[in-house]
Amino acid sequence: MSYKLRPLSKYFGVELVGFDARRDAGGTELLDLLLKHQLLLLRNQDLTAAELVEVGRGMGPILPFLLSNYRHPEFNEILVTSNEKANGKPIGVARVGNFWHSDSSYIANPANTTLLHSIKVPPTGGDTLFASMYLALDELSPELRETLEGRTAVHTIRKRYKVTAQDVGQSLREIDDRLKLTIPDVTHPVFRKHPLTGRPALYISEGYTLSFEGMSWEESQEMLEKLHAHATREHAIYRHHWRVGDILIWDNPSLIHAAMASDPEIPRTMHRLSIESGVTR
Ligand code: SIN
Repeated sequence: MSYKLRPLSKYFGVELVGFDARRDAGGTELLDLLLKHQLLLLRNQDLTAAELVEVGRGMGPILPFLLSNYRHPEFNEILVTSNEKANGKPIGVARVGNFWHSDSSYIANPANTTLLHSIKVPPTGGDTLFASMYLALDELSPELRETLEGRTAVHTIRKRYKVTAQDVGQSLREIDDRLKLTIPDVTHPVFRKHPLTGRPALYISEGYTLSFEGMSWEESQEMLEKLHAHATREHAIYRHHWRVGDILIWDNPSLIHAAMASDPEIPRTMHRLSIESGVTR
């Protein structure tokens, strides 16, 4: 295998220049690199959906996504995210992750790894931003470290919920109670240890974190705002501008990310896999 590593930013992320996923994936190499660098970029990967699933499987067991209606027609491991339509019907979920988050932190055992393969991308817009939560923890002030040490935070999907036709006639309280039953809130340590390496990272996000154990609602919101601003300082961010055939693989325990808006009239279609932290080391 002959490929070179090119850093994507000062603190995290590498491009694997010359890596051919069809030829070189397999074994534990990609996972080892991911655990070290947090974000991997492979350019020009002209893979079929079946080949993409193979690459994903090589990194651990694939988790089905909660939204069952936007799975790939042949490979239900793949979630299609897209603003395109076929025969008047959306071919994928149109808006995914246009806010800072760590994937599925609102469940007890979130996916470790996400793999995104770009099929169609707009010339401008639709970039994805990443921020390192190892760096956020490393650069946290001693006072905040002391306040947050040993605490947990509540994560929930309820923050993202948009009222739909089925909610008409219900009070917000009733809607909220129903959501709590469907996908109950969970707690995670604020300094969560990586399931595979044990390295702690700041584990909060504007998108899914609701409150902090032992703090009032107001204190929680103030803390969340402070931590979010800290984690997303300019120097901590890598911004990815997509090209067709890119594969980005990211480590959810140590990164937060956000997709930027793109023109709804210009196609942006991605194939996405979520991979469990199933490999023990
Ligand atoms: C996401 O996984 O949150 C969306 C990433 C993207 O489509 O850029």
